Amino acid sequence: MRTYKQRMPDDFHLHLRSGAMLKAVLPYTVEQFGRATVMPNLHPDPILMGLQAEMYGNEIMSYGFNSFKPLMTIQITEKTTAQMIRQAQEAGVIAGKIYPKGMTTNSENGVVDYKSLHKVFLQMEASQMVLLLHGEHPHSTSSLYRERDFMDTLDYIAGKYPTLKIVLEHVTTAYAISTVKMFKNVAATITLHHLLLTLDDVIGGKLKPHNFCKPIAKFESDREAIVEAAFSGSHKFFFGSDSAPHQRSTKECEEGCAGIFTAPVIMPMLVEFFEKHGKLRLLENFTARYGAEFYGLPRNEGILELVNVPNHLPKEISIPELNDSVVVFQGGQTISWSIKGVSHA
Ligand code: DOR
Ligand code: ZN
Repeated sequence: MRTYKQRMPDDFHLHLRSGAMLKAVLPYTVEQFGRATVMPNLHPDPILMGLQAEMYGNEIMSYGFNSFKPLMTIQITEKTTAQMIRQAQEAGVIAGKIYPKGMTTNSENGVVDYKSLHKVFLQMEASQMVLLLHGEHPHSTSSLYRERDFMDTLDYIAGKYPTLKIVLEHVTTAYAISTVKMFKNVAATITLHHLLLTLDDVIGGKLKPHNFCKPIAKFESDREAIVEAAFSGSHKFFFGSDSAPHQRSTKECEEGCAGIFTAPVIMPMLVEFFEKHGKLRLLENFTARYGAEFYGLPRNEGILELVNVPNHLPKEISIPELNDSVVVFQGGQTISWSIKGVSHA
């Protein structure tokens, strides 16, 4: 039996939700990750201020997973002020997230006018608070062009605020990857699902709602560029899962929600994928070093161990309180790696 060991990884983009959903999904992240950047788009009340982030962080910690550290965020809207940024920083918030208006789940209060955020960006620069961007332009002629068309906005913010640390989240196109490389202050997160999927895995045969997310998976040439970036050893590209649980009933319906629940399968699948391509030696930096460096955090202490034994992925996680379930990404398949545990040696 072979084993794979590496420094405890981080998930730099995660949706945990709250209440019964949080309770159901959190254990899958804490068994694999030392920290995670927790997204603020809660419904109906998004996290907009430091105090709310603190309370949300306390809810996450109330489950007693003391080895896990949630990295809290606030959502930045056109109503955010420089003072709110200062207060959020004092409350331990590490990053601010911008959703363009209406682009994804719970983003009705998103941003249209980026120039109106001048003072907010200056304060974030001064506080070294990381700016997280959902990079999709709301007025593209096609949803497939939204990320490409957002690059002008990225260009504007990155150029005008050269010491603001910016992460283009869940990058999905070759074009965006080449744009990220142009700016010293810009990095990008890469998800597990965008390493694996193309648009055809969503709509090429029968409709696959559990492969549907935003930004939607694009073409094979884009997927190859994402894989190349993940394998490049560039410090600009690091892991963020965008694991985004939704109740099965809200995905398998007339207007299905965007979001793929990958949390239970991430590290086993990443080990399998990197190994298959002969790149396993690069996985530790991708998941446990470059992101921490960009955020200005120390690396995690523990060691995560996986073993090469068949792992039958559950199809779904049931949530009795909601009388519903969450479908697991590629659930039902058997993969070759399983999580053994964490050690602190
Ligand atoms: O697919 C997505 N789901 N993309 C996002 O940006 C948000 C997320 C969610 O919150 O469900
Ligand atoms: Zn997300």
